[in-house]
Amino acid sequence: MKTLVTCGLPYANGPCHIGHLRTYIPADVYVRYLRMLGKDVVFVCGSDTHGTPIVINAEERNMTPKELIKIYHRHFKEIFEKMSIEFDYYGSTDDYSNHHRTQEIVLELIRNGYVYSKTIPLAYCPVCDRFLPDRYVEGTCPYCGMEARGDECDQGCGRHLEPGEILNPRCKIDGAKAEYREQEHYFFRLSSFKEFLLRYLEDLKGTENALNYAREWVKRELKDWCISRNLDWGVKFPGRDDMVVYVWVDAPIGYISFTEEYAKRTGINWEEIWKEKSEIVHFIGLDIVYHHCIFWPAMLKGAGYTLPSAVVASGMVKIQDKTFSKSRGYVVWVEDDYLKEGFHPDYLRYYLVNYTSHQKDLNFSWKIFEDKVNNELVNTLGNFMYRVLHFTWKNFGRIPEVSVSSEIIKKIEEARKNVIESIESYEFKEASDAVMELASFGNSYFQHNKPWELIKSNLEKCQQVIKDCLQIVKALTILFYPVMPSSMKEIGDIIGIDTTSLKIEDVQVEISPLKLSRPSVPFKKIEKEKIIEMQEKLIRRIEKMGNTDTQEYVTLEDFQKMNIRIGKIIAAERIKGSSKLLKLEVDIGDEKRQIVAGFATSYRPEELIGELVPILVNMKPAKLMGVESQGMILAADVNGKPVLLKTEKEVPTGSIVR
Ligand code: 2FM
Ligand code: ZN
Repeated sequence: MKTLVTCGLPYANGPCHIGHLRTYIPADVYVRYLRMLGKDVVFVCGSDTHGTPIVINAEERNMTPKELIKIYHRHFKEIFEKMSIEFDYYGSTDDYSNHHRTQEIVLELIRNGYVYSKTIPLAYCPVCDRFLPDRYVEGTCPYCGMEARGDECDQGCGRHLEPGEILNPRCKIDGAKAEYREQEHYFFRLSSFKEFLLRYLEDLKGTENALNYAREWVKRELKDWCISRNLDWGVKFPGRDDMVVYVWVDAPIGYISFTEEYAKRTGINWEEIWKEKSEIVHFIGLDIVYHHCIFWPAMLKGAGYTLPSAVVASGMVKIQDKTFSKSRGYVVWVEDDYLKEGFHPDYLRYYLVNYTSHQKDLNFSWKIFEDKVNNELVNTLGNFMYRVLHFTWKNFGRIPEVSVSSEIIKKIEEARKNVIESIESYEFKEASDAVMELASFGNSYFQHNKPWELIKSNLEKCQQVIKDCLQIVKALTILFYPVMPSSMKEIGDIIGIDTTSLKIEDVQVEISPLKLSRPSVPFKKIEKEKIIEMQEKLIRRIEKMGNTDTQEYVTLEDFQKMNIRIGKIIAAERIKGSSKLLKLEVDIGDEKRQIVAGFATSYRPEELIGELVPILVNMKPAKLMGVESQGMILAADVNGKPVLLKTEKEVPTGSIVR
């Protein structure tokens, strides 16, 4: 029987960060262990390319969604390769096969009576003159009262919001108050799957964090899901050229279409996985449990596909003990902050697997990173492996031909069993702790037996101790290979182990009496200065995003360099292709200036005419979206949105601000 392992698809909408890796690395580790246990595994993932955030981002960057997703699709593929995350197939939900499979499934759901149409009130922007799907609308969550956007309450209760549910809707593009207008849409009859889901979730395997939430949700009311959207970008809704399917329909269907693509390339039969009995394991983040444990199995059931057997959810990532937040700067970008800084991919793999249980929140800090690398990888694991290999090479030149002691066989067996049990229960930390314990044991065994003395006093005993230690090195190499594949491959090359086809029981196969080449140190210590540099880089980013704990001072002289004057806005218009920028004409007393300002998210052009505003008139001219800006209007920043600063009473244009 085949096993399919998948990872939640990253949106091809921005660079890879450590939060992504929190799911993908343990999934890759799991797949490597399963293969060592002899399982026939297929591992797929791909870019999630549809939905409104991508359309909005592309529009803001003056490119098409297709151009945008191409950039990030390539970026993620490169990062995965560098981080040794080896998917058998990495697809895109915009590929033909996914459009095709999605339409097939939606048609099947329609045929089976699980889709109906209904006229519903939808947010409509009178300024843009169109309906506002998902992220195009912002407002108040009807459940918790927090500021919510589009289809989810991401700042508050985390609930999925159906079209029409959000209160006080506003258009994201121009901030205008949206009105509700009626339109026909298509709904998936999720409510009719309640009994099925209650039973299904009893047997579903995976992590308790996911299962407990899902079981609770299903006991409550299940609402039908609107699965059509007023957008051009996406998979066309069958029979409706003016609509696409909701992104959360075609995204998980990617798991199927990527399997199909992989099958085409390798000659396997994809239906063996998706139409017959198989093991399907989804690795996801805790924030998308609802979609994977409720919506997705109901869809599969309704269309006659094989159901997932396990959902494994990783806890969220914190940065320096603070909630992960890209907009507030609490983020570690895998390329810019890690790989480009020269850190070894295996160090981060080890951290993400070993810091805490997979289900719990994981805190990333550079200090902990330093400790884990220097104390655990360098001082415990690396030290043991290097000492043993170096001693053997220097004193014997080859691996001694004596049998491994029974005490050591037992110890290795214990570690092997612990690893298997932990992996089967998705406890990756426990698995890697069991291996690290074997390394600590090895260190004490070496230290206690003093082979450097035995070599002079008792050569036979010395050979025994060294052989025992070498068998431990072999076991460590195999058992740690899934976590740190490239470092363990290097050790494997020295001791004659082919890491491309490892079996877990090989830990007990006696290490071959090879001639050794000169070993090198497997892990390198991270210098304190580098850690300080990384901490400072993070702090600078956090401060730049407006979270100022520490401030640099400016002198009066610095301030006096700025020529700030009051100007009157006399003309304003939108800039084509931008949802944020307006082109303004301002009168600053003795001259008129053209200024480009990011005001479109808060104001309509006509609202600005006649306003007196402070302007930095000696700002270096720059071009924004091809339009020259000859100054900068100062405004308050409220959650990323500009609010005008006005003078308390009418003042002449050109008045100096100091
Ligand atoms: O939440 C996310 O990042 C989504 N892009 C995950 C999609 S997973 C799946 F269902 F395709
Ligand atoms: Zn809410």
